[in-house]
Amino acid sequence: MKQIRTILVFCLVCAVGLCCLPCFACAPAVGDADGDGRVTAGDARLVLRAGVGLEEADLACMDADADGKLSAADARLVLRYAVGLETALPVKSGSAEPEPQTTDKILVVYFSRTGHTKPLAEYAAELLNTDIYELRAKIPYTDEDIRYYTDCRADREQHDPAARPEIEGPLPDVSGYGTVLLGYPIWHGQAPKILYTFLESADLTGKTLVPFCTSASSPVGSSADNLHPLAPDAVWKEGKRFAVGTEKDEIAGWLTEIDLKQTKKKEEPALQMTINGTAISVVWEDNEAVASLTKLAAKAPVTVQTTPYGGFEQVGALGTGLPRNDAQTTTAAGDIVLYNGNQIVVFYGSNTWRYTRLGKIEGLDGGALNALLGNGAVTLTLSASVRS
Ligand SMILES: Cc1cc2nc3c(=O)[nH]c(=O)nc-3n(C[C@H](O)[C@H](O)[C@H](O)COP(=O)(O)O)c2cc1C
Repeated sequence: MKQIRTILVFCLVCAVGLCCLPCFACAPAVGDADGDGRVTAGDARLVLRAGVGLEEADLACMDADADGKLSAADARLVLRYAVGLETALPVKSGSAEPEPQTTDKILVVYFSRTGHTKPLAEYAAELLNTDIYELRAKIPYTDEDIRYYTDCRADREQHDPAARPEIEGPLPDVSGYGTVLLGYPIWHGQAPKILYTFLESADLTGKTLVPFCTSASSPVGSSADNLHPLAPDAVWKEGKRFAVGTEKDEIAGWLTEIDLKQTKKKEEPALQMTINGTAISVVWEDNEAVASLTKLAAKAPVTVQTTPYGGFEQVGALGTGLPRNDAQTTTAAGDIVLYNGNQIVVFYGSNTWRYTRLGKIEGLDGGALNALLGNGAVTLTLSASVRS
């Protein structure tokens, strides 16, 4: 990566006419070994010399037959291409064009100091059903720090090419994402330098990067383009500026425009219960005990033979322990709890004891619960599958 950046500096030098050295990184295509934008017999000669060690070898633009090594065959191919006997040279991995990654997982990364960019990033994440990561500065920006045109911290950082404010906390693991949306406010026409820190710290090779920003009035301008050299191996999409207060609908329209679609929601199995074969509607607690029971029931249905106790409950052994967070509880008819970590209790009356709540039966009144549970032993089954 570092090497590529160094080369890029050379390229910029070339671009302003200060460089007369052949710069291989500037070669846009296989065959253009001297990087002058054309494929000529001179390139073939360079490839031949590189093949025998007389020039620096650069596979990206010299390995014309894409076999991973340099030989006279490459020089011959380049020469044939130069004189029109070949119509194309292969483009391969390792060539100058970064290849987009195929995963469709999207991550939204944003920085927002005064809260205008934040909701837009959140809309995008919500619409795309994706993960979101907020870049926060290790030394937070105070109000004084962002009072612009007062030589405040933000003013100084934006005018200092070397400024790279430290990011608070660990960076997101971007390895599983194919696309990263990058949200930021415009600060003096550019992205805040914390974005630069992020781009230089994360490995964004092959990822598609989509910048978006908010501003008082400035367009996205050069702010997005100036981010490109910081992640040169990414595939950059055009940046987009949004006004402060942009609504969710507009973000949805933009996402459609740039062809970003909602990633499929991960479907979690839902826990279902029957009593004596009758499906019972239950509102389950969102806790570790229910998560653990759901996991268990997803592997194979759990059948529990219960017995009535005390005239107010049915109780039966689960055959395994579940995570518990027992608390003194007064139950009501319809409550389902975990007793002693390994027994399930369904109430048709009330009791007070230390339990972990599991859920509550809905849609059955006291009379119906009595009829269902108050007449001897019952069979509970707990199963879990993804609801269609
Ligand atoms: C240091 C600084 C520089 C700014 N420079 C510009 C600018 O050049 N052009 C502009 O239109 N707005 C500028 N603004 C305004 C912000 O871009 C705008 O308020 C943005 O929506 C803030 O986003 P945030 O609330 O997510 O931090 C600047 C704000 C700050 C703090």
